Amino acid sequence: MNPGPVILEAVRLTKKIGKREVVKDVSFSVRAGEVFGFLGPNGAGKTTTIRMLTGLVRPSGGRVTVCGFDIRRDFLKAVRQIGCLIEYPEMYPYLTGWENLEHFQRMTPGIPKSRVGEVAEMTGLADRIHDRVSTYSLGMRQRLGIAQSLLGRPKILILDEPANGLDPFGMQEMRTFIRRLAAEEGMGVLISSHLLNEIQLVADRVAILSDGKIIHSGTMGELFARKEKVRWRISPLETGKRILKEEGVDLYEEDGFLIASHRPEKAHLFNEKLVKNGAQVFQIETKLPTLEDLFMELTGGTSR
Ligand SMILES: Nc1ncnc2c1ncn2[C@@H]1O[C@H](COP(=O)(O)OP(=O)(O)OP(=O)(O)O)[C@@H](O)[C@H]1O
Ligand SMILES: [Mg+2]
Repeated sequence: MNPGPVILEAVRLTKKIGKREVVKDVSFSVRAGEVFGFLGPNGAGKTTTIRMLTGLVRPSGGRVTVCGFDIRRDFLKAVRQIGCLIEYPEMYPYLTGWENLEHFQRMTPGIPKSRVGEVAEMTGLADRIHDRVSTYSLGMRQRLGIAQSLLGRPKILILDEPANGLDPFGMQEMRTFIRRLAAEEGMGVLISSHLLNEIQLVADRVAILSDGKIIHSGTMGELFARKEKVRWRISPLETGKRILKEEGVDLYEEDGFLIASHRPEKAHLFNEKLVKNGAQVFQIETKLPTLEDLFMELTGGTSR
């Protein structure tokens, strides 16, 4: 992917609530056409940061620019570029999806009526758009909320935990749809989550937030390269274990495999040794870490 221009930039954002700093020196940027994951456990400060990004809350320090506009100095110009969904969208359940969208379209100056059909199409709601919202699934309601936020053609979409409460199918739909917005519409998308797998499957880059601070940020590739392991299937297992340990390899057992912490490029050297010493090697493969492994490592939790 060719990264587009920076659309959203957070520089040294800090938020004090009472005496507590709940967001500490948070900086990152989101580019056009990319999905940026904002990952952290409950209470890490994701929503507070997002509230500052969208101008709902004033930072105690630092600044936010959207398409070059400072959110404090040029509030209207900046927020016009943002579409956001924070917590559950408020919709009129007794109206249809279309009527809800039309209502917001009429309330917002400068949005043509034709945009309603476009956003319904973009969010995959076209075939149910004339049904009442009360008959929608949670996933459809979320997408209607997003459709509403897309009415004004924002350059960046900010979604606070959009996967909350969705079943695996709903999550899959949401992911496909978010990727499409980035790839086809060239939007920047910031998506927060405490679900490690969720971000892993949708984001190009990620920032991991813990206790108000960013403890890691980078591309998904860079993140994974940190903790690549090698999975061995060897018989007899005990012989394999002994020989690899003699070679100074750190390892543990999982589902009948040995998971070894060495560079994948070294596998052929160890393989030779194993075979020479009477161990049969059936399988050698690279094992990518889960984001959960990484998170545990980065936050100093207990992880293998
Ligand atoms: N209005 C407030 N008054 C007092 N404390 C607050 C307020 N808003 C947030 N906090 C505290 O700030 C910290 C960060 O909260 P925030 O909601 O930003 O976290 P989060 O990462 O969004 O968590 P979650 O995954 O639960 O949504 C928490 O400890 C929370 O209790
Ligand atoms: Mg939150």
